[in-house]
Amino acid sequence: MLLATFVLIAYTTVVGALWPEPTEMATGGQTFWVTPGGLTAVLRCDQGETVLAGQDHRWSANDLGILMTDASNWTQMLWDRVPSFFGYWSGARVEPVLTETLILRNAVHDTFKSIDKSNFIPWKSHPRNSQFEPPVHGRHQYVSKLEIQLKSCPDDEKLHPRKFFDGDEAYELFIHNSTAILRVESTLGALRGLQTFQQLFYRHSGASGHYTDLAPVTLSDRPKWKHRGISIDIARNPFKPRDLIRTIDAMASAKMSRLHVHATDSQSWPIEIPALPTLARKGAYHPDLVWTTKALEKIQSYGVSKGISVFLEIDMPGHTASVAHAYPQLIAAFNELDWSTFAAEPLSGQLKLNSPEVTTFVADVLNDLLPRTQPYTSLYHIGGDEVNLPAYLLDETVQSDDPAILQPLLQKFIDRIVRIVSSFGLQPIVWEEMLLDWNLTLPSDATGQHSASTLVQVWRNSKRIEEVLRRGHRVIFGDYTHWYLDCGYGNFIDPYASGVSPPGIPFNTSGGVPSKTTVPYLDYCGPYHNWRHIYRYNPLENVSSSLHHLIEGGEVLMWSEQTDSFDLDTKIWPRAGAAAEVLWSGPRDDSMLEDATRRLGEWRERAVTEFDIMMSPVQMTWCLMEGGCTR
Ligand SMILES: *[C@@H]1O[C@H](CO)[C@@H](O)[C@H](O)[C@H]1NC(C)=O
Ligand SMILES: *[C@@H]1O[C@H](CO)[C@@H](O)[C@H](O)[C@H]1NC(C)=O
Ligand SMILES: *[C@@H]1O[C@H](CO)[C@@H](O)[C@H](O)[C@H]1NC(C)=O
Ligand SMILES: *[C@@H]1O[C@H](CO)[C@@H](O)[C@H](O)[C@H]1NC(C)=O
Ligand SMILES: *[C@@H]1O[C@H](CO)[C@@H](O)[C@H](O)[C@H]1NC(C)=O
Repeated sequence: MLLATFVLIAYTTVVGALWPEPTEMATGGQTFWVTPGGLTAVLRCDQGETVLAGQDHRWSANDLGILMTDASNWTQMLWDRVPSFFGYWSGARVEPVLTETLILRNAVHDTFKSIDKSNFIPWKSHPRNSQFEPPVHGRHQYVSKLEIQLKSCPDDEKLHPRKFFDGDEAYELFIHNSTAILRVESTLGALRGLQTFQQLFYRHSGASGHYTDLAPVTLSDRPKWKHRGISIDIARNPFKPRDLIRTIDAMASAKMSRLHVHATDSQSWPIEIPALPTLARKGAYHPDLVWTTKALEKIQSYGVSKGISVFLEIDMPGHTASVAHAYPQLIAAFNELDWSTFAAEPLSGQLKLNSPEVTTFVADVLNDLLPRTQPYTSLYHIGGDEVNLPAYLLDETVQSDDPAILQPLLQKFIDRIVRIVSSFGLQPIVWEEMLLDWNLTLPSDATGQHSASTLVQVWRNSKRIEEVLRRGHRVIFGDYTHWYLDCGYGNFIDPYASGVSPPGIPFNTSGGVPSKTTVPYLDYCGPYHNWRHIYRYNPLENVSSSLHHLIEGGEVLMWSEQTDSFDLDTKIWPRAGAAAEVLWSGPRDDSMLEDATRRLGEWRERAVTEFDIMMSPVQMTWCLMEGGCTR
């Protein structure tokens, strides 16, 4: 055919640099171009065809049924990137209906806009002074249309988060001629395929268009696990909502699917709960650091637009001392000395276990928060880690640290939360201690309703994955020896100036003890887990193969004692990207590292160019340019 005459061999052809690695892919060495504004998209479903994006990539406000007049004055520059289906800028009068069609339209628009705007020239993937770009002159083959094929059209009902996020993420992509084809089973699958489509194109330094030099492309891809997440602790140090928006962009590019927001902790309560207005006003580090309901909604809906379920964790009953700034009567052992008797880190304090006032408080928080998160996610994290026993000696409602007395009370405490969570149709997640240490009964698959079963997040030791699975629960993996992103930065606690601990009040169980913080001040989970370490983690290693199908997926975790807005990006990335490929493409082995360096290295360059994200480098530039450094 005609195409053959345009094959040019005068420049270096590289094999695909997609991240994460697709399941199956066949490429050629031809160049296909996209001109600025030159792509249209159609959706073919139920034997019909709808235009999703026209030649200029614009769709009018009326098409979407959304009043966009005030959108132009959404003050913060970063917010401009938030898609226009948010209806809550101050002047908006029309309640937007968030539908799958709208999400798809927005995603196509975003993809085309991102390709057009991209300044990414992959010079770091080629030897210096080499001619790696295709010639500008001569006849070009263009891609001018993207046809998205879906068996049945996305419904125009209000978004149903569970249905949307349960959508089949598999996709097939064909770029054989001027009409590229993306074949999917769901809207979510289309979002994943669009990310791949975008990654195939590079900016040309000498022409106004973008090109792929891998045509014809035939690609078939599907994820290993459904839960591909990052957990971010926004309570230990100050963060801004835009930190998560930026994170979502990079996550989407790496086809991640879940953003777990560890929203509150003993050190601060930044989340606004309008029913309890003093909670965040007094509990946040500073009044300017309150995350408003609007900011939260914006983050969650931005997540939805990128196929990422953003869910919250209000950790309970431990990790709750910050509640005491507004409601001191609800917290036992608030800021006791020595803290180490009453908590895992400063400061101590947890919700009383047998208090009607606490019961009311918890219900008030959840009944306010959950209806607001539920339009955008089907998940809610209850918490439940590191419940401290001695703290309950100081809780006048129990006055005991005997697990036999505490266990039934904790069961009731968690039962009440589970009931509220389930009443909003959300699936609960708990930390492993609730199941493995406290032996709590939690809704499980055995109850017959998969969507209501409790997901259990394992953090202490990857051997516990098997224990949780044997007890009939699905697992989220990511233990501290493999996937914690805060490890290796050293201890954040100082030694006692006197060399020994002061007398403990009221229990002198720890007074007079020499400092445990000693030179060289290492943290509990060092060394630093570099991206290769994260990449080589195989969660299946010690798990019986008969149980593998019960693993929901995993998360890398960013605990924030020593991290805030300013270094978040470099701490998360590119390491979370390494995890993203494990989660999408399945466990990796050593033979894959060299290729991974090349592809992750290129993905990193694309990310820093396209999303303003401060990712650490993957490899020394010379190695990337020369095809690798091995030993
Ligand atoms: C945007 O809104 C703010 C606050 O309502 C107002 O002060 C400002 O003048 C507006 N800017 C534009 C360009 O309309
Ligand atoms: C273009 O490629 C698609 C996908 O391979 C194929 O179905 C279609 O027939 C091709 N169109 C032409 C005109 O060759
Ligand atoms: C939970 O069960 C384990 C193993 O049977 C046991 O060792 C532990 O003491 C139990 N914990 C509580 C709080 O009952
Ligand atoms: C599996 O168990 C072995 C033996 O205890 C241990 O060395 C290894 O680290 C474990 N693997 C994972 C991924 O936890
Ligand atoms: C209690 O505090 C004193 C004074 O610091 C110390 O000498 C003593 O060893 C402490 N007792 C216990 C049991 O830790």
